[in-house]
Amino acid sequence: ENQDLSKTPTSFKDLISTLPKDNGWKFCQPLYLYQGFWYNPFVLEGTILAQKNFQAQPGDIFLCNAPKTGTSWLKALTFAIATRNHFDLSSNPLLTKLPHDCVPSLEMDYFKNPTMPKPAGGLSVWATHISFSSLPKSITESKCKIIYICRDPKDTFVSLWHYLNKMRSKSHEEISLEEAFELFCNGKSPYGPYWDHVLEYWKGSLECPNQFYFLKYEDMKKDTIFHLKKIAEFVGHPFSLEEESEGVVKKIMELCSFENLSNLDVNKKGQSPHADVDGGTVDNNLYFRKGKVGDWKNFLTFEMGERMDNIMETKLSGSGLNL
Ligand code: A3P
Repeated sequence: ENQDLSKTPTSFKDLISTLPKDNGWKFCQPLYLYQGFWYNPFVLEGTILAQKNFQAQPGDIFLCNAPKTGTSWLKALTFAIATRNHFDLSSNPLLTKLPHDCVPSLEMDYFKNPTMPKPAGGLSVWATHISFSSLPKSITESKCKIIYICRDPKDTFVSLWHYLNKMRSKSHEEISLEEAFELFCNGKSPYGPYWDHVLEYWKGSLECPNQFYFLKYEDMKKDTIFHLKKIAEFVGHPFSLEEESEGVVKKIMELCSFENLSNLDVNKKGQSPHADVDGGTVDNNLYFRKGKVGDWKNFLTFEMGERMDNIMETKLSGSGLNL
C-alpha cells in the first residue's frame, strides 16, 4: 500500500480506513468514497473539517464546480468584479498572483489556515469542489449565493488527465488516457462521479433559483460579457451605466482572459504550494493549458466521445440539463 497518512490525526485515519478506496489513478494516495463522491485524503480531511467547523456568513459567495471546469477563470472574474473599486485594474492582484491565491478554497485553504483574511472589496468569496449534498450545512441553511460552473465532460476529462499526469511526481507512473477514461466513465475521478456533481447542483438551482447562478464554460466562452454582467448583478455589484460606457466590463474580461492570464509571469513561471503533491508545490502554468472548447477531439476517439455522451444523456435524462 502506497499510503502515507502519518500527518493526519488518528480519528481521521480511523474514519478513512472504513471507506471504500480506489488506487486506479496511481496517485501517491488512493481516492476514498465519502458521501457518494471520491476524494483524495488531503481534501477529504479538509472537507470533513469544513463540515464540522465552517460557519458561513450572510453574504458569503461560493464558487462551486468539479475540477477542470473553469475554477481559475471563475475565480478571476468574480475577484475582479468584487475588488474593482479597490484596485486600479492595472494594479489588480490578479496580475501578480495565481487566481487560486486570490480566492480561498474551502476544503484546502480553510483547513490549512482558517483565519485566512477575506478578500478586499467587502465581498467574501470562497471556492469549493465539495458536492452540493456534502457542503457544510451553514452554507445551504444561510442561503449563501452559489455560482456553479460546469463543462462538457469530454473536455473536462481531457483537461483532468493532462493536469494529473503533469502534476504527478516523477516517482509515480503515468496513467494512460484509456485507463483514465475508464475510471472517469465509472465515476471514479477526484470529486466524481462528474454527472452526480453537476446534477446535485442543478437540482439545487431549480429548487432555489434565487440562490444560484448556474452556468456552462462553453456559454461563458461564447458570450463572456453577458455572463460577466450577470455575475456582477448576481453578487450584488452590478456595473453602472458609467462603468459600462467607460469599458470596465470589457477591461475585466480582458484581464481575466486565458490569453492574458496565461501570459503573466506569475502564471508562466510561478509555483504554488500544493499539499497534495509530493514536494508540496505545483507549477502555476498547469492551471493554464489551452482554454478551448472541443479540444477533446484531439485526444478521444469518436467512440469514446459517443460513450461519454451516452453516459451523460442517461444520467441527466429528465433533469432538463444537457451537457
Ligand atoms: P484545458 O485543460 O482544457 O485547457 P480549472 O481552472 O477548473 O482547473 O480548469 C482548468 C481549465 O480551464 C483548463 O482547460 C485551463 O486551460 C482553462 N482555463 C484556465 N484559465 C482560463 C481562462 N482565463 N479562460 C478560459 N479557460 C481557462
